[in-house]
Amino acid sequence: MGTATLTAPEQVTDTFPINGTDFIEFYVGNAKQAAHFYRSLFGYEIVAYRGPETGVRDKATYLLQQDKVRILLTTALRPDHEIARHVDKHGDGVKDIALWVDDARRAYSLAIERGATSAGEPRVLEDDHGEVVIAGIRTYGETIHSLVERRNYNGLFMPGFVPFAGRGKSEGVGLKYIDHCVGNVELGAMNKWVQYYAQVLGFAQLISFDDKAISTEYSALMSKVMANGNGRIKFPLNEPAKGKKKSQIDEYLEFYQGPGCQHIALATDDIISTVTQLRDRGVEFLRVPATYYDTVIDRVGKIEEDLAPIRDLGILVDRDEEGYLLQIFTKPMEDRPTLFYEIIQRKGAKSFGAGNFKALFEALEREQDLRGNL
Ligand code: FE2
Repeated sequence: MGTATLTAPEQVTDTFPINGTDFIEFYVGNAKQAAHFYRSLFGYEIVAYRGPETGVRDKATYLLQQDKVRILLTTALRPDHEIARHVDKHGDGVKDIALWVDDARRAYSLAIERGATSAGEPRVLEDDHGEVVIAGIRTYGETIHSLVERRNYNGLFMPGFVPFAGRGKSEGVGLKYIDHCVGNVELGAMNKWVQYYAQVLGFAQLISFDDKAISTEYSALMSKVMANGNGRIKFPLNEPAKGKKKSQIDEYLEFYQGPGCQHIALATDDIISTVTQLRDRGVEFLRVPATYYDTVIDRVGKIEEDLAPIRDLGILVDRDEEGYLLQIFTKPMEDRPTLFYEIIQRKGAKSFGAGNFKALFEALEREQDLRGNL
């Protein structure tokens, strides 16, 4: 058997205070259509817009929001643009996992001092509602972390954006906040990025899984989970491990053309309701074999929910020392087998569903095999 070790972070002073995730920005081929896709399927409200009509000549951005989950969808308007090159190489994907800080200038200089590479020096954006200060540091692949300070701003989102003028209904599905964002990195690079988050951002390692803990007959991966001082930011990092066939991480790295964000976990207080609505709107989820439910209660003990809808929807259950969690994974959101979503409801558990990994990865491999990539 492999090992999964759970380590409580040391109670030390938080050397890099972060209030939470500010937004996640995607570079996409067509932001207008992506905005409507996310509104129709996930129930986001299209809140704000920035583009040629607001004086930005080379790109267009839509801000979508549901409770605390904020996503930006950005596209280039010309082929010789950096964003167009990014989309050409990676397909639609996550460019920026932005972190909300109290003092962006200080956070930026501290990160650079500790070895981060700049993705943009601090800039002050101003309008009638005040100012936002934004800087950026690089992380795995071409992904960045913007550092966003908004303590002196009381506008809609940030200067430059105007309220979205289009009509149409948005009906939320109960998504609350971003629980965690997972990065896939290349073989041998996981520990480098673990150290980066520890040294630069003062994160602690929560959990690690070796390749024997996360393996199926065919493929394996290794994973470590990094979390910031207050625990609001959790970044699991995966790297492929040698298996008989190509692992799901290898497939991602091949189709994303390098490291990047593998999945974003969105929290709900009522997973049965959320997943029912998402399924009915057309979101496709991975299915584990029906036999999973024959033994699930023996494995995780009593749960408050009825098992029938859990089984019907294909929701997975896992337990740790502190409670249990319910989770489910979508199929990739793009034609390339790259980014997907997790919907998670925590009932005390602070872990990530390790007990489901095997069943889940076998489901992933069936899909991978259908694509001819196993
Ligand atoms: Fe996850």
